[in-house]
Amino acid sequence: MNSEYQKPGILLAAFGTSVPGADSVYQDIQVRVESAFPGHSIYWAYTSKVVREKLRGRGREALSPLQALGLMGEHGFSRAAVQSLLIIPGLEHHDLIRVCAHVQGLPKGLEKISLGDPLLSLSEDLEKFVPAMLGNIPADRQEDEAVIFMGHGSSHPANIYYAGLQYHFWLHDQKILVGAVEGTPALDDVLLSLKRMNISRALLMPLMVVAGDHALNDMAGRQTHSWLSTLRSRGIEARVYLQGLGAFENITSIWLKHLQRAMDSLKSGQA
Ligand code: CO
Repeated sequence: MNSEYQKPGILLAAFGTSVPGADSVYQDIQVRVESAFPGHSIYWAYTSKVVREKLRGRGREALSPLQALGLMGEHGFSRAAVQSLLIIPGLEHHDLIRVCAHVQGLPKGLEKISLGDPLLSLSEDLEKFVPAMLGNIPADRQEDEAVIFMGHGSSHPANIYYAGLQYHFWLHDQKILVGAVEGTPALDDVLLSLKRMNISRALLMPLMVVAGDHALNDMAGRQTHSWLSTLRSRGIEARVYLQGLGAFENITSIWLKHLQRAMDSLKSGQA
């Protein structure tokens, strides 16, 4: 078959997780992508080198975005839609932008590559994300219980998305707090908000694609520095809900919309 008529390949680029079992969320996403884009070949790449090395050590295949795009060219694809399964357009996403730009148009490789935005990119993404996520909070949440979303955080300017997200949550619910393990708002900021509101109960949820290492350890771990332990040591009755964002259909739908846009822009560029 002439590759000109071939459907574009899809590359799903996630940060990756080394926690066995946590990656079942990626399989759920794969199923959603397959049914939304039937007949398209789906490839995976992990942006984290540490995760890739751990997975390979266990005999698993783990490609970088660069390797996956190279392979797709090798397999005869002329076009690829890359979907960033990241949350904010931070460092990892900007690396993806650069890789896609450099690989596109190389001899005997992919002629056209279109990259779909991460989960939270445009304001409309935040406006969709917030009510969807409010609907994903366990139904047994008590009225006086705060919900704390623990994101990753970034040294990239896009860290401001966490504050932006906090704003959008507050438009709906004052007792929703957004924090980041490696960024701002930090746990101290979250604690201050809890104190100001005189909150004595809180539910912790990861603001991450999978409930992996950060969720299991930094958020829910038994160690004294975990968010759960810290909250409890301040007299807050805290519990966790260990579900990654990728497990929620209404959240995956946002990534699927972005992938559709990437797919459309591949078409529009065709003569
Ligand atoms: Co980290």
